[in-house]
Amino acid sequence: MQTLTSPKSIVVVGAGKMGGAIIEGWLKQGVDPASIYVLDRNEDALGYYSGRGLNTFRDVADFPVGMSFEVFLLALKPQVIVQNLSEFNALISESTCLISVAAGVTCQSIQSMLPAVKQVVRVMPNTPSMIGKGVMVGYSDQKAQIESLTESLFQALGKFYWVEDETQMHAVTAISGSGPAYLFYFAECLVDAAQSFDLKPELAKALALETMIGASCLVESSSDEVSTLRENVTSPNGTTQAGLEALMDGEQFKEKVFACLKAAANRSVELS
Ligand SMILES: NC(=O)c1ccc[n+]([C@@H]2O[C@H](COP(=O)([O-])OP(=O)(O)OC[C@H]3O[C@@H](n4cnc5c(N)ncnc54)[C@H](OP(=O)(O)O)[C@@H]3O)[C@@H](O)[C@H]2O)c1
Repeated sequence: MQTLTSPKSIVVVGAGKMGGAIIEGWLKQGVDPASIYVLDRNEDALGYYSGRGLNTFRDVADFPVGMSFEVFLLALKPQVIVQNLSEFNALISESTCLISVAAGVTCQSIQSMLPAVKQVVRVMPNTPSMIGKGVMVGYSDQKAQIESLTESLFQALGKFYWVEDETQMHAVTAISGSGPAYLFYFAECLVDAAQSFDLKPELAKALALETMIGASCLVESSSDEVSTLRENVTSPNGTTQAGLEALMDGEQFKEKVFACLKAAANRSVELS
């Protein structure tokens, strides 16, 4: 993780789950709350960020006339963007770098809805960004102009990579954008299954979740492939082998994971 060179002014349009996770990450990295402007229609979000010293607005018309931003973070739902984006032209100047985290919305469609914007980058983040553990991928066809600013903003929130082909953002969205939800669901299943044994519920939950956390930390700290880490736990004819065989069910578990990523990537294509 790198130190963040803080832009002078950032407007975050849509401070929900993803916009909020990015704001949290930036604040943790020492970005001045007074340099962040939040535009959101949700009163709870506005109250929360106002209480933390950020500037909050419910409507574009509420911004001081002529105000524009170095960074414009677009974190609305794709469906909302298609209907409302043109109203944000007033917040953009020639030097504004627009960063969209919306799944499926192309750079070209953003530029066609916001003609004032000259620099657009798409970034697919994920919610662990709020604790500096995100993995994010960027795409821009104007990369040379916005490369260092984008890297500075997102390397502060975790690992950041570029792709050179915008269509690859569909796969990225399916894997890392949506990915935390798959792992949370696996954790939910593990907790439910653990609780079906005759253990105290708190113990069952702790065993299930701490195992997920410990295994993730081991992946991070070890130089071994994940397959080796799995093999290390799996003695021939032991309990782990019996459990894994039931989980894998031949190739069925793997096929489900493939189907999961394909469905998410296809949905990203539909939204574009
Ligand atoms: N969630 C993730 O893990 C994740 C991961 C990667 C990328 N993304 C992308 O991030 C974007 C936002 O997703 P999200 O999950 O953060 O959505 P979200 O939680 O619904 O946040 C969107 C926020 O924007 C507000 N809003 C809606 N319409 C508005 C408008 N016209 N003007 C001002 N504010 C408005 C919403 O208010 P209300 O609550 O009142 O509707 C909400 O506070 C999406 O494009 C998604 O593809 C999300």
